[in-house]
Amino acid sequence: MAMAMTNTALAFFLLVAAASFLSLPPPSLAVTSPYVRPKPRATLSLLKDDDDGRKPEQVHISAVGSDKMRVTWITGGDAPATLEYGTTSGQYPFSATGSTNTYSYVLYHSGNIHDVVIGPLQPSTTYFYRCSNDTSRELSFRTPPASLPFKFVSTLRHIGGDDYDMLLLPGDLSYADLYQPRWDTYGRLVEPLASARPWMELLRGARVDAVFAGHVHAYERFARVYGGKEDPCGAVHVTIGDGGNREGLAGSYVDPQPAASAFREASFGHGRLEVVNATHALWTWHRNDDDEAVVADQAWITSLASNPACNK
Ligand SMILES: *[C@@H]1O[C@H](CO)[C@@H](O)[C@H](O)[C@H]1NC(C)=O
Ligand SMILES: *[C@@H]1O[C@H](CO)[C@@H](O)[C@H](O)[C@H]1NC(C)=O
Repeated sequence: MAMAMTNTALAFFLLVAAASFLSLPPPSLAVTSPYVRPKPRATLSLLKDDDDGRKPEQVHISAVGSDKMRVTWITGGDAPATLEYGTTSGQYPFSATGSTNTYSYVLYHSGNIHDVVIGPLQPSTTYFYRCSNDTSRELSFRTPPASLPFKFVSTLRHIGGDDYDMLLLPGDLSYADLYQPRWDTYGRLVEPLASARPWMELLRGARVDAVFAGHVHAYERFARVYGGKEDPCGAVHVTIGDGGNREGLAGSYVDPQPAASAFREASFGHGRLEVVNATHALWTWHRNDDDEAVVADQAWITSLASNPACNK
């Protein structure tokens, strides 16, 4: 238990370092995908199926520093902000108690929002936990590995598999559009994923030398760009805001397609960034084609550190 996952900090640093020096292979032909998206289905609304107001819901976790995890959940009524956890299913030798908050927005009053930070935790380890002493439901998450490879995914559907370490949210989570209960629907919808792997929010794109930007509801991958022009020492730009909103996709692109645009498609999907080692990362974008995840774009991203022209 005491063995902290200090190397995770290193892995994370390497990821950022790798992301900082990404360089794509020589630009290929600009591709506009011919895929035409079917019309969206009806807006989802998940109503509460609770009971006595003590059932934890909308459970999600996020990484805090290199070896701690923040667990957040909501109960309709009063319940302790206690998290019980351990590395064996059904046994919870550890517990921690955090804080509880609420907020109101016009006529909306949130449930009790509980927040607990636990750790230090071991790397690549499954922890079993339960919230608010609720004996009816055990949840589990796996901590990220202490060293590479390190796998990230972004956005929701088709990522229920186990083969990733962290979820990266480039922004535009759900839109409430003044109707706050929609946030609760979102929280319930994502819980199976959000309670199992840490979520890292990159609202509007955290800017390193590789830019993963949200907000625009479409997908587009660019070559390395600096000052609006292709530059082998610039930053790789990926627009991955395809989580969507009820207003639909952003279907219009700059026409004709700029040479720096390697691939673009107005569609929904999710991306995976696998940092294989200190010099190589594999970026894959999966279109959510009806109910199938289909690989629609993929590129190896290699370290600029190995390009002497960019290290003067
Ligand atoms: C909740 O669980 C903790 C840890 O197991 C325990 O110390 C505490 O007394 C429990 N609280 C309630 C209200 O049952
Ligand atoms: C990093 O991974 C890539 C892709 O698998 C491989 O070609 C390369 O040799 C690896 N580099 C090192 C230093 O292991």
